[in-house]
Amino acid sequence: MVKISPSLLSCDFSRAGEEVKRIEEAGAEWLHLDVMDGHFVPNMSFAFPTIASLRPHSDIVFDVHLMITDPIRYIERFAKAGADYITVHVEACADLHATLKAIHDAGKKAGISIKPDTPIDALMDYLDECELILIMSVEPGYGGQKLIPKTMDKMKRLKDVLTHRGKDIIIEVDGGINAETAPLAIASGADVLVAGSAVFGKPDYKVAIDALRG
Ligand code: DX5
Ligand code: ZN
Repeated sequence: MVKISPSLLSCDFSRAGEEVKRIEEAGAEWLHLDVMDGHFVPNMSFAFPTIASLRPHSDIVFDVHLMITDPIRYIERFAKAGADYITVHVEACADLHATLKAIHDAGKKAGISIKPDTPIDALMDYLDECELILIMSVEPGYGGQKLIPKTMDKMKRLKDVLTHRGKDIIIEVDGGINAETAPLAIASGADVLVAGSAVFGKPDYKVAIDALRG
């Protein structure tokens, strides 16, 4: 069954600890944590102190999405803060091999993300060095945007490549996922759905999460 990773970006940050508990009780398997630096993306969010302060509130998988330039500088600190998966952008890394190695050296699972206009070819040299690939279905930077349809075809092609090559890598999709778009994302190969506004924007998180599973 598809896993749901609600994006904390859309939560009520004045009571973030409770929000994480509510998400877990509502049946989400993962929690998606969007870190933005105002450089790789035109927005800023949160970083180590927020993640570290939430860690004691829950055992849920912390799925940390780094939208930051040269993330290799901070891998150890995100690992210490409590990340389980650390995902970096192919477009943001001067040396992606070294960055993925740093994530593994820190004892964490490594993910690679690509923006909507980046082809899946950019991933091919790294398939033995990651546990997860994150397909951005919107331009990274903000929650609440509309899914870009061409990214679904790209994800389908990636799924075919991974199957053909016998690679057991999780495919995650992020941006514009809601009850209407989730079926297409699942049919296009997604194993994990990230959803911010479609979960935290709704009064009942369990109903919202169940609706995404279809
Ligand atoms: C965007 C972030 C997403 C965002 C998703 O750059 O990576 O995780 O929070 O928000 P929705 O689900 O509202 O599109
Ligand atoms: Zn994200």
